[in-house]
Amino acid sequence: MSEMDKAVKTCRPASASLDISEAEMCELSTQVTQLVTEYFSEVSTLPVFPETSGGKTIGKIGASLPLEGEPLEQLLEDCRTIIENSRHNGHPRFFGYVASPATPPGAFADLFASALNSNVTSWRSGPAATEIERTVVRWLASLIGFSGETNEAHGLLTSGGSMANLTALLIAHRAKSGVEVASTGLWNSRAPMTIYASDQIHMSIPKAADILGLGRAQVRLVASDDRFRMSVASLHQTIANDLENGMKPFCVVASGGTVNTGAVDPLNEIADIANEFGLWFHIDGAYGALAALDETKRPLFRGLERADSVSLDPHKWLYVPIDSGCLLFRDEARARAAFSFEGADYIKVHEQTADEAFAFWNYGPELSRRFRALKIWLTLRYYGVQRVAQSISEDNALATYLGEQVEAATDFELLASPQLSICCFRYVPPSWQAGLRMRGEDAVAIETELDQLNTNIMNLVQRGGRAYLSSATIRGKFALRACITNFRTTRADIDETLQIIREAARDLGSK
Ligand SMILES: Cc1ncc(COP(=O)(O)O)c(C=O)c1O
Repeated sequence: MSEMDKAVKTCRPASASLDISEAEMCELSTQVTQLVTEYFSEVSTLPVFPETSGGKTIGKIGASLPLEGEPLEQLLEDCRTIIENSRHNGHPRFFGYVASPATPPGAFADLFASALNSNVTSWRSGPAATEIERTVVRWLASLIGFSGETNEAHGLLTSGGSMANLTALLIAHRAKSGVEVASTGLWNSRAPMTIYASDQIHMSIPKAADILGLGRAQVRLVASDDRFRMSVASLHQTIANDLENGMKPFCVVASGGTVNTGAVDPLNEIADIANEFGLWFHIDGAYGALAALDETKRPLFRGLERADSVSLDPHKWLYVPIDSGCLLFRDEARARAAFSFEGADYIKVHEQTADEAFAFWNYGPELSRRFRALKIWLTLRYYGVQRVAQSISEDNALATYLGEQVEAATDFELLASPQLSICCFRYVPPSWQAGLRMRGEDAVAIETELDQLNTNIMNLVQRGGRAYLSSATIRGKFALRACITNFRTTRADIDETLQIIREAARDLGSK
C-alpha cells in the first residue's frame, strides 16, 4: 500500500465526521449557554401558556427534513420560537398537573450527562454513573424515611412515576405468583389476581395492571373517606369478600399523595392489613413522597418504612428536570428474580466483585438508560438537602394559604382542603351562593351550571397566559386545581391568581 493510500485510509473524510472544530464548539456552547441563561432569567415574565394553536409551531420553524446542515443562527432563532410556543412549568403561576420547574444545576447536569453519554445499563457500561445512581437511590430512600439504621433499601431510577409503578407491580406479581410465570406465562393459581387501591388512585396503576396482562378491572377500587384517604375498613372488607369469592389478592397500593387532592392514605394501617393477608405493600409516592422532607408533613408518612416498594418522582418535587422517577424496594432478591434474564450471552457479566457485576437490567425493564442520577446528585449537592426541604415546605405552606384565602372569600368555595401542596376549589358567583343550599332538581341544575362556569373559567385562564390551573373532579364537582411544586411561587402569585380567576368570571358575564 502506498504512503498516499495509507494516508487516505487513516483519515476520515471531513464530510463523514460529525466532530466540529474547537472554534465551532466554543461558538455553539457560548450561544446555547446564553439561550439557557436567558430562559431561566425571563421565564417568570413569559406567558405561562402561548398564544398558539395545534400545528402552528412546526409551521413556523419548518417540518422539512434537512439534507444539508443549517446555520447556527437559524437554529437558535428556531429555539427561541420553541420557547415562545411552549407552556412554562417554571413560571411562578403555573399550577397545573404535577409539574415543577427545573433547577438550573439540574439542567446543566443533563447537558453534561448527554455529552458523557454513559449508557447506565451496568457498572461495566458506566462505572461512575452506576455508582452515583446507587448512591442517589440510597439518598432518596433515606430522605423519605424508607431506609434507616436498621432497614436497607435498593432501587433504580426510572423515566417517571408510571414506569416505577409498573416495575413495582411486576415485582409484586412475580413475588406472589411465582417467577416461573415469566417463562410459562401461566400463573400457578387459576384464581384472578387482584390489586387494591383507593378510588383516588393514579391511572398508572390500572394501566400497569393492564400491561401485566391482569386487566384494569383487577384493580379493586376501595372507597375513600371524607378526606380522600383510603378507608381501611372498606379495604379489609373488600379483600375478605374477594377471598371468599375465589380471587387471589396479591398487592395493595397506597397513595403517598393522590394526584387529585394530595391525600396521603393511612399507610401504617394499610401496612397492617397487607401483613394480615400476606399482600405486597406498594406506595405510589410519585407526587407526594418527597413531602416527607417537610417536618410538618412527616407524620402523614408514618408506616412508609413498612412498604415493600415505594415510587417517587424527583422530577416532581426535587425540582429536577424530567425524566427522573425512582422505584425503591426492600428485597433486592425479589426484584432480581422478576427481571434477571439468563441465556443472553451479550449481557453476560464476567466481573469478579459484586459491585462490578452489578447491572440495572436485573431490576427493571430497561436496558439502555441515560445518566439520570447526575441531575439529582448535582441538584442535591449544589443546594444541600436543607434548602430543597425548605422549598418543599414553602410549597405546602402556599397551598394552605390558598385554601385560607378561598375559605375567607365570598365568591369561592373550597372543595378539598390542602393536605400537601394541592388545593381544589371553585368559583361561585356571590349571587349564586344561596343556590348552593338548594335540594333536588334545583341543586342538580346549579351544580351543572357551576361545572360549566368553572370549566369555562379554567379554559379562559389557561388561554390568557397569566396563570395556569388544571382541574379535578371532587365528589362529582368540577374543581379548579392548583398544585404548587414550584420554588418561584410566592403569596403575591396566589393572590394574583385568585384575581385572574375573578376577572375571567367577570369576562364570562358572571356576577
Ligand atoms: C400520584 C401519581 N402517581 C403517578 C404519576 C405518574 O408519574 P409520571 O408522570 O412521572 O409517570 C403521577 C403523575 O402526576 C402522580 O401524581
